[in-house]
Amino acid sequence: MKKHIAVIRGDGIGPEIVGEALKVLDRICALYDHEFTYTDVDMGGCAIDKWGDPLPQAELSKCLDSDSVLLGAVGGPKWNDVPGPMRPEKGLLRLRAGMGVYSNNRPAKIWPQLAGASPLKQSIVDKGIDFIIVRELIGGIYFGAHNTIEEDGETVAIDELRYSEQEIERIGRIGFETARKRGKKICSVEKSNVLDSSRLWKSVMHRLAEEYPDVELSDMLVDNCAMQIVKNPSQFDVVVTENMFGDILSDEASMITGSIGMIPSSSLGADSCGLYEPIHGSAPDIAGMDLANPIGTILSAAMMLRYSFDMAVEADCIENAVSAVLDQGYRTADILSSDTGCIKVGCREMGRLIIENMKRE
Ligand code: IPM
Ligand code: MG
Repeated sequence: MKKHIAVIRGDGIGPEIVGEALKVLDRICALYDHEFTYTDVDMGGCAIDKWGDPLPQAELSKCLDSDSVLLGAVGGPKWNDVPGPMRPEKGLLRLRAGMGVYSNNRPAKIWPQLAGASPLKQSIVDKGIDFIIVRELIGGIYFGAHNTIEEDGETVAIDELRYSEQEIERIGRIGFETARKRGKKICSVEKSNVLDSSRLWKSVMHRLAEEYPDVELSDMLVDNCAMQIVKNPSQFDVVVTENMFGDILSDEASMITGSIGMIPSSSLGADSCGLYEPIHGSAPDIAGMDLANPIGTILSAAMMLRYSFDMAVEADCIENAVSAVLDQGYRTADILSSDTGCIKVGCREMGRLIIENMKRE
């Protein structure tokens, strides 16, 4: 099969981790007789430096013309002082909105080989952590009107939070469909004791639930959810929530797995062209030092094969190779615990080991 992939290496460790993921994709081509071609896209700090814009229209067009987009990470302290609309993060938000990828899926799962790395008590980890946060990605407070005004002699900042029924319904459907393919449990997270948008959210979820009688719906307030994620994470299967709550809860969920460097994500909209990225940031402090963990990006590439290209066998091949390398005891610095006798490797060596373990299933 022929596929064309837009590649955003980005800033910090982005170029290193994406480099390893592309080698893995090339190996898939060789093993399964596919042809992947790549177009580099400038986004984030590097685009600000080169074009004076975190995502020029021509770069966005390359993404829209592709079969899917693979992204490393963007941003860094170098661009901390640039004004809001020009920040590297703005490029990412424009990309998400431009691609229409309203559904962001972030798995929180403990790898058995890394169970000791979770900061939670072993008795909690032993009950199992395997859930997925389905986050609405192109609405809510991120995309409402933003304004800073002068009023009665002081500065006032306003960020508008709005959701339409249709925006809630389409992400709700993704949540229910996802739950249907997993443990058949969905927890809708909102702040309906305070916010109108959350009351609408809750009522749409309950209306949808009638169409999914095989899926069990529960409601949870976001502050309680933040607590439950550390107290009893095994209760969750699918969590569906709005943009900003999902941003915060997905960082918390990644932390309890003990290995944020391992977690991939997918963002999808109405068609199969998706955006795939690890959930960690650009880690500028270790950029260019061959220390980064490429696994989050490599697993994101696997998700691209599975969800956008319908290549489940090829995705399994990558995921099995990652698991095999962990079984063999190889660890990048972020997932190395001192007491286990594991072998520390750098970014490139981790990529090489994964490729060496990839076998045609
Ligand atoms: C994320 C990030 C982004 C977000 C930032 C970089 C704009 O935190 O992907 O979770 O808030 O969505
Ligand atoms: Mg975030």
